[in-house]
Amino acid sequence: MQPKNRVVILISGNGSNMESLIKASREPNAAYEVVAVISNNSEAGGLAKAKALSVTSYAIPRKEFKTKSLHEAALLEQINQLQPDLICLAGYMQILSANFLTNYNGKVINIHPSILPLFTGLNTYERALDSGMAFAGCTVHFVNEILDGGKIIGQAVVPICIDDTPDSLNAKILKAEHILYPMALNSIITQKPTTRYEEEIFISCHSAKV
Ligand code: GRF
Repeated sequence: MQPKNRVVILISGNGSNMESLIKASREPNAAYEVVAVISNNSEAGGLAKAKALSVTSYAIPRKEFKTKSLHEAALLEQINQLQPDLICLAGYMQILSANFLTNYNGKVINIHPSILPLFTGLNTYERALDSGMAFAGCTVHFVNEILDGGKIIGQAVVPICIDDTPDSLNAKILKAEHILYPMALNSIITQKPTTRYEEEIFISCHSAKV
């Protein structure tokens, strides 16, 4: 069996995707292990969740640094020590600089709550509802210098119902995210594409790296 990929997860908030990535990493066939969680916000709820799951966590608060580049330098220093194969952004509310991405080219992955390339950026639930589409969803993708613009790894779609609100759609998509993110990660590490359909969530993941 191949050694497991070392994954570092970056968070800013609640950390529900982080939690699902950690739990899935403990399944027998997982291709990765989560070596640490880093938050740019010391108040992030995800830090307590990481502790409860016995995963090493670090808070490197953005507000303790004068500039974004000083903060990023500290982040990079911590990440370099951890020697990750992949870095997973899970609700990390800060855009990484081109310099950071050059250091980890093709190794940074994000989850976004829309069916990319539709609805990059914020307010994705409102925009999905306003579009009149019958499906919404989420995307796991490689991170490049274009916001939500990197190569797509996997997507999940959920139906939009007539009585859906931004909050109900958010809840539906978040449930799909928790299944999609570990699946997508395993797919690119093992180079095996995967599909799954359950409880009105349809998921498809590619296997090719950038
Ligand atoms: C998710 O909706 C994710 O798609 C977006 O930020 C949210 C993070 O939620 N990037 P959580 O912190 O994982 O609960």
